[in-house]
Amino acid sequence: MVIRGGTRLKGEVTVSGAKNAALPLMASSILTRGWNTFTGIPRLGDIATMKQLLGHLGLKIEGGKDLRIRADNLTCPEASYNLVKTMRASVLVLGPMLARLGKAKVSLPGGCAIGARPIDLHLRGFEALGAKINLSHGYIEAEAKKLRGNKIYFDTSTVTGTENVLMAACLARGTTVLENAACEPEVAELARVLNKMGARIEGVGTDIIEVEGVDELKGVEHRVMPDRIETGTFMIAAAMTGGEVKIKNCRVEHLDALISKLTEAGVTVMPEDEGMRVTVGDRLRSVDVKTLPYPGFPTDMQAQIMALMCLADSRSVITETVFENRFIHVSELKRMGADIQIQGNSAIVRGGRKLSGAPVMATDLRASASLILAGLAAEGVTEISRIYHLDRGYERIEKKLSRLGADIRRVKG
Ligand code: UD1
Repeated sequence: MVIRGGTRLKGEVTVSGAKNAALPLMASSILTRGWNTFTGIPRLGDIATMKQLLGHLGLKIEGGKDLRIRADNLTCPEASYNLVKTMRASVLVLGPMLARLGKAKVSLPGGCAIGARPIDLHLRGFEALGAKINLSHGYIEAEAKKLRGNKIYFDTSTVTGTENVLMAACLARGTTVLENAACEPEVAELARVLNKMGARIEGVGTDIIEVEGVDELKGVEHRVMPDRIETGTFMIAAAMTGGEVKIKNCRVEHLDALISKLTEAGVTVMPEDEGMRVTVGDRLRSVDVKTLPYPGFPTDMQAQIMALMCLADSRSVITETVFENRFIHVSELKRMGADIQIQGNSAIVRGGRKLSGAPVMATDLRASASLILAGLAAEGVTEISRIYHLDRGYERIEKKLSRLGADIRRVKG
């Protein structure tokens, strides 16, 4: 991706459906009989991977943006390493397969650039529901003739862990209570859709979820919620370029923590029909940020707000509490002239410096977004390589930014 920085972004942009909502919804199809239709599915690398995985398991899949999935025949209970290694969220098929087939075999996802990211809490949840778990040759084998409801406390708030165990509990016998469940809007959306499918879930959107098991679920039609991280990324793009951007198809209520920090920093966010308008005053103020599970500040916006803080007027402390190694973007931002020091799980950002274009490398999905943002605000040309990370989670980002006036293009490496 080649970006010539310095253009004020102006105009309207429409946010795509949320990747992190679409992936568990697609996996939840495994629990159902009949067609599911999910509309507003974003065209992304991770979605293509999930389609491939579900197809491999024997599900029928048709369409793109409007995706139809039918799981009447599940032919293969195994998700191989080749499919799981490119996307950790592949593990989301484990709970539904176990509940529907009584057994499942899924490759262990392994570590990733932002930390070890274990799945022990998923597995402990399945064990509590009566499954036997066996780890061998890099695979998780789970088995249970019929899952039984139980009380499960998550030591750490885990998004996909909550989703995985929640899906399994829908077809378990009796009542399951999930405590310290993740409250992210994507988890709530999954629970609402499971209820449409015929599940009996209470406490949707809270940290205590109660599930009364049912015998079967049926296919549904559902439109995927807008992506709050893509929305936040465009908000920061407007702020970093001194722009004025109307963001359509977004949910302001999912972005309270980010909006509160941006407002403190001097950015104006005006809710409007169908979305919001983002503008910025003359001066950007430095603010401290700490990532936390929802409704706290999202870790998936940490790299982007760090890019913004590089331009703010003084010193900002950004503390990452969700993942242990999520500062890989720091060294790349420094190559663009940022003054950032890492102390433990905090990054001290000294603002007030001009960023300058440089060749940089994308290292993970959100880190790539922060480099695009830095490139938009930098003097001169920034060349970002390894942008496949970006295509995993942002739909046609260069097209959307070009329409706002950015000088950005994709070139073949
Ligand atoms: C999801 C999101 C990801 C986001 C993250 C945190 C999807 C597909 N991905 O990832 O974009 O950055 O939530 O908001 O929705 N943990 C354990 N044991 C487990 C599970 C998690 O120790 O079994 C730890 C992790 O290492 C991490 C923390 O819990 O430190 C939160 O991780 P989790 O919420 O599970 O992240 P994901 O669901 O993988």
